Amino acid sequence: IKFVEKDVNVYKVEEILQVIENRYGIKKDDVDVCVLNDGEFLIPGFVDTHTHAPQVPNIGSGQQHELLDWLSEVTFPMEARFKDVTFARKAYTSVVRRIIDCGTTTCCYYGTLHLEATKVLAEIVHQMGQRAFVGKCNMDRHSPDYYVEPSPERSLEDTKELISYIRSLTPPPPTSSPTYGEGESLVKPILTPRFAISCSPELLASLGNLASEDPTLNIQTHISENESEIVFTKSLFPNEVLEKFGINHHHHNHLDFNSTHKHNHKHDTKTKHTTTTYAGVYDAFGLLRENTILAHAVHLEEEEIEIVKRTGAGISHCPTSNFNLRSGFAKVGMLLDKGIKVGLGTDVSGGFSPSILTAIQHASICSKVVSLSSPPSSSSPTTPTSSPTSSSYTSRQLSVPTLFYLSTLGGASLCNLTSQIGSLTPGKQFDALLISLRSNSGNPSIWGWDLDLEVGVRGSGGEPGEEGGRGKGEKEELEGLLERFLFCGDDRNVRRVWVAGRLVGGKDFGI
Ligand code: GUN
Ligand code: FE
Repeated sequence: IKFVEKDVNVYKVEEILQVIENRYGIKKDDVDVCVLNDGEFLIPGFVDTHTHAPQVPNIGSGQQHELLDWLSEVTFPMEARFKDVTFARKAYTSVVRRIIDCGTTTCCYYGTLHLEATKVLAEIVHQMGQRAFVGKCNMDRHSPDYYVEPSPERSLEDTKELISYIRSLTPPPPTSSPTYGEGESLVKPILTPRFAISCSPELLASLGNLASEDPTLNIQTHISENESEIVFTKSLFPNEVLEKFGINHHHHNHLDFNSTHKHNHKHDTKTKHTTTTYAGVYDAFGLLRENTILAHAVHLEEEEIEIVKRTGAGISHCPTSNFNLRSGFAKVGMLLDKGIKVGLGTDVSGGFSPSILTAIQHASICSKVVSLSSPPSSSSPTTPTSSPTSSSYTSRQLSVPTLFYLSTLGGASLCNLTSQIGSLTPGKQFDALLISLRSNSGNPSIWGWDLDLEVGVRGSGGEPGEEGGRGKGEKEELEGLLERFLFCGDDRNVRRVWVAGRLVGGKDFGI
């Protein structure tokens, strides 16, 4: 397939896949990666399920700290600067451009606590054509005087206003051709209680009520990231507090909201939270459900894993940040084995890279660290499986297909968007990346496809369809290429980025 941008714009996903099937005999239904020309291929766009747009200017600073000190020493001072809308506009313009060019087609953004600056973030994301969830941090306590919301009421009001603003954004003008993205804005609001520590019980209760009124509203927050954070959280939410302010309780079926407990904060005496857990706090306020994204989940207790599973919430695995802030190693394999949804997050600037590729690399290392500390019997050599959740990962390293899954379809599952994005499947929207490993991409870490050195790429040489060329070894060759890209690639290899069929970024964008 000669890859020409304007041609892709006039194809629907079905048509592109049909061409690939005709040419390469790859079945339409199981295309996750498509071969194009030598050294080039097409993959689904990356989903970053957790990042902080206003922290991008801080990347690479203050990494001697653990979470709570890092927040007060490094993070809050920078976020406070976004009170200045001019500063925010300038910063967010370059931040969003950079994140799109890294190949992130769907991004879950935390803004700051500021309403106006967060509107600007949503507007810029919308205008640049990225698919995204944008939230304003709710934080009305345990934050510095210069960076805290004055009251739970004000926090709720600003949140509602941001939601209406984002929902009023008009859909992008149609492209020259049929795409699936028309008629709907790609930017959605997301409730963003920063974390339990920074939210009063009154605030969490009002956010829980807001959520219960609108089951389509996505929710994101942090959970169980750091030991000191967990201890502090538990101390702030003893059972009495949950019983007094909570709007939900754990023996109720999830999503069982109705007017009786929407407006009634008093509960029957059967409500018992025998011990407080971090997940139990969010659950008590009705904030855990199928469209909730929980970032980190490094130190979850058994009981919390059950709560996450029961409510259908998903985990954003942020290994770069978890290493960098010395938070710990999330047991992602175990979560996958339990059938919990998992995606990847960069968590900038806890994580020092806005690229999902870095998160993939660290997710691999993290899983190897976990497997090293597991009993020897279970650390036997493993064969990668193409089914990411089918066999035991609890004490094993994650395979390449699983890492790829986490960065695409797994992320989509956290956003409840698997019917629309996450894979190059007929009927889904065309959110895709053109990847080039050719030496002229400018990344010297990957031995160029076209160097003709018989290193690195398996079965290279020959034109597609030629005798002795591609064909039988196609799949293996492609997997090898994909692995090299995931581990050694960077934004120089991301040549084109499409969201809903629209070209929105990449190294060749605007050339
Ligand atoms: N917990 C509360 N706020 C933050 C944040 O900005 N980054 C991370 N990594 N954890 C948090
Ligand atoms: Fe974070």
